[in-house]
Amino acid sequence: MNPAVAALLAGLAVLAAVWLGYHINNVGKLRRWLARPQRSPVPEAGGSWDSVFALLYRHEREHTREKRRLVHLVVRSAQAGRALPDGVVILDGSNRVEWCNDRAESYLGIDRRVDAGGPIVNLVRDPEFVRYVEAGVFSEAVGLRPGRNPSLALSLKLIPYGQHRKLLLCRDVTQEEKVETMRRDFVANVSHELRTPLTVLSGFLETVQELDLDRERTHKYLGLMAGQASRMQRIIEDLLELSALESAPAPERDERVRIAPLLAHTRAQAEAISAGRHRISLQLEGDFDLAGAESELTSAFGNLAGNAVNYTPSGGEVRLVWKATGDGATFTVEDSGIGIAADQIPRLTERFYRVDRSRSRETGGTGLGLAIVKHALARHDARLEIESEPGKGSRFTAHFPARRVVRVEHTA
Ligand SMILES: Nc1ncnc2c1ncn2[C@@H]1O[C@H](COP(=O)(O)OP(=O)(O)OP(=O)(O)O)[C@@H](O)[C@H]1O
Ligand SMILES: [Mg+2]
Repeated sequence: MNPAVAALLAGLAVLAAVWLGYHINNVGKLRRWLARPQRSPVPEAGGSWDSVFALLYRHEREHTREKRRLVHLVVRSAQAGRALPDGVVILDGSNRVEWCNDRAESYLGIDRRVDAGGPIVNLVRDPEFVRYVEAGVFSEAVGLRPGRNPSLALSLKLIPYGQHRKLLLCRDVTQEEKVETMRRDFVANVSHELRTPLTVLSGFLETVQELDLDRERTHKYLGLMAGQASRMQRIIEDLLELSALESAPAPERDERVRIAPLLAHTRAQAEAISAGRHRISLQLEGDFDLAGAESELTSAFGNLAGNAVNYTPSGGEVRLVWKATGDGATFTVEDSGIGIAADQIPRLTERFYRVDRSRSRETGGTGLGLAIVKHALARHDARLEIESEPGKGSRFTAHFPARRVVRVEHTA
């Protein structure tokens, strides 16, 4: 071979080797960088590789920024999901748990770390809920009382979204259920309480209409009818009073109620009901008035004193005591009457609750008196304490906090 050609070829071979080496080296750098792109900066290289690495670097930066944005978005969505007041479970197409918030964990007794991937019907094993999930009709919600906490009433509703996923919403409806039961009981009670006198009244009306009664009999029946009508009227008045107490805003603390004349009135009222059958005393200890609504306090105190007279046999004693205490003031009504069994005491302030219906009816009682007392006192930040011993007597005490008690200023 011509030596000049050979030298040229050798030169070319060296050049090709250098060129190849340069590229192999850069490919190596690229490979190493691609293996862990986040850990090291984009490698430096000259020539055409520089623009490749620059492009890669830009791409990588955009990718990292987008990833960070998405991570933030996911974290924020999860935080929002956790902050929801209701329980939320995300289910996949096979009704398996993908994620749930803290509220759902506590309502349903599941753990998103352990139970993720588990079928919801295995985790919430209530037969009605299982039927609901399997039926696939989710327009209505289904009720659930968790076995671990049966006092909790839950409403569960599945909401399909996306391709095949579902959201399971769990709402605590314990309070709503309670209110609904109370409403139903209340309507039933009112109807029952009004129906009794109405039935008696209609019976008398029929008798008076159909029988040819003499004047004396007619007069007697009309009297009995008037008694039933006034009983119905009392029930309605008491109900209206209760409803006014419930709906009006609590009385301000700047209306000053003078206690001495109010209690003198309460005592006079009790004496009128007693008609001399009881010894009734009033004791005032300390010059203190109350801040609140006079009409409500008159009604509450009058109810307590009236009960003491009504549930104390003739010859008994009723004591009314107004007293300042270290942290407020108390009004106590004490009697030596029939008393109340311990298991009845917590129920006395329920509407229409009477220990002995027939006896209470004799005294014209509607069973709403103590419900009114409780409400009126609560509106004055006061609480009612009931102590009693059957056969010995009862003590009803209204405890008023210091913020409702006003010292009487005497002017010289
Ligand atoms: N001082 C008392 N001694 C014994 N039992 C009482 C006394 N006060 C209340 N009770 C019992 O509590 C029940 C509820 O009292 P409440 O005042 O609410 O109703 P009432 O007296 O029957 O009717 P009213 O609505 O006319 O007051 C009474 O029926 C009675 O059985
Ligand atoms: Mg009463």
